[in-house]
Amino acid sequence: MKVLVTGGTGYIGSHTIIDLIENGYEVVCADNGINSDTSSLAAIKKITGVDVPYFHVDLCDLNASETIFIAHPDIIGIIHFAALKSVGESVEKPLLYFRNNLESLINILDLSIKYGTKAFIFSSSCTVYGDVERSPVDENTPWQEAASPYGRTKQIGEQIVTDSLKNTDVKSILLRYFNPAGAHPTALLGESPINPPQNLVPIITETAIGKRSKMTVFGNDYPTRDGSCVRDYIHVCDLARAHTLSLKYILEEKQKQQNEIFNVGIGNGLSVLEVITAFESLTGQKLNYDIGDRRPGDVMSIYSNHNKATEKLGWIPEMDVADIMNTAWAWEMKRTGK
Ligand SMILES: NC(=O)c1ccc[n+]([C@@H]2O[C@H](COP(=O)([O-])OP(=O)(O)OC[C@H]3O[C@@H](n4cnc5c(N)ncnc54)[C@H](O)[C@@H]3O)[C@@H](O)[C@H]2O)c1
Repeated sequence: MKVLVTGGTGYIGSHTIIDLIENGYEVVCADNGINSDTSSLAAIKKITGVDVPYFHVDLCDLNASETIFIAHPDIIGIIHFAALKSVGESVEKPLLYFRNNLESLINILDLSIKYGTKAFIFSSSCTVYGDVERSPVDENTPWQEAASPYGRTKQIGEQIVTDSLKNTDVKSILLRYFNPAGAHPTALLGESPINPPQNLVPIITETAIGKRSKMTVFGNDYPTRDGSCVRDYIHVCDLARAHTLSLKYILEEKQKQQNEIFNVGIGNGLSVLEVITAFESLTGQKLNYDIGDRRPGDVMSIYSNHNKATEKLGWIPEMDVADIMNTAWAWEMKRTGK
């Protein structure tokens, strides 16, 4: 049962590799290191004892990507994480995002069909819903205009996956993640991007540890409980498990349709200011923050209904905001040597 994890040295990919290994899968990892390095593979080795084969390839290069399948023609499933993910950067450099996220997707789909894999899991995002009027959103909630080019790459990406695999033997699942956060409970692995993090939780921990002198809350004039944006924070290990369950669902032939879509979020909206308060009270750290302007591309409020993932995949989130904060903080302290 060999699975290719693209973007596998990155944040969610590396946590998913651990879950896959713990569930008996053999994993091959591919990444071009644009936003991560192979230190995550060393952590995976420490945690699982497994040396994961690694291909340093840009998936926008079809020939280079094919070397993975030439070396491992028995890959049965692909989990495609590889993408650029910064909403703000995508607003500034839309073509970079369209080129990287869509060319790599097209290439990997091409190879998936050519080499006869059975399952294709795509990292989608709640950004496909756009600026929704109300939450929780379920999988049938109509899409609004994407709030950023990044969100558009996920909308187009979902359509590319379904259209390309429609008349093939490859079954697909589109997982729409909400806001992944937290770190592995061993504190050996966590979020460690090469580009400065844009997500709230690593910004909080970097501020608390002193890597940043202060942080900014982007807008406190939204029509929410306290004026800051509301999101659905999901522990990265819970999210990782959703991938293993999705793969099993297809490989055990439980999926009747060619393609299925699942929301993967806790179903609980927390505001930015509530997350800051939770971190402060759980860790005893005081955060230095100010209130800035709204950030282009941010939506006001979104959280999930994940009933479908629970019913069909048997996925139930096990961790809450306290687990997210505690593991993220333990990881930050460990990697900073404190
Ligand atoms: N983290 C989030 O908040 C979030 C939310 C929703 C969806 N997602 C999606 O989940 C996936 C994984 O996100 P993450 O948080 O782990 O990000 P990440 O940046 O940590 O991981 C993505 C990995 O893909 C690699 N990559 C990018 N372009 C590549 C290319 N052309 N060829 C090979 N490798 C390439 C990067 O080097 C990185 O290691 C992405 O598709 C992202 O859009 C993330």
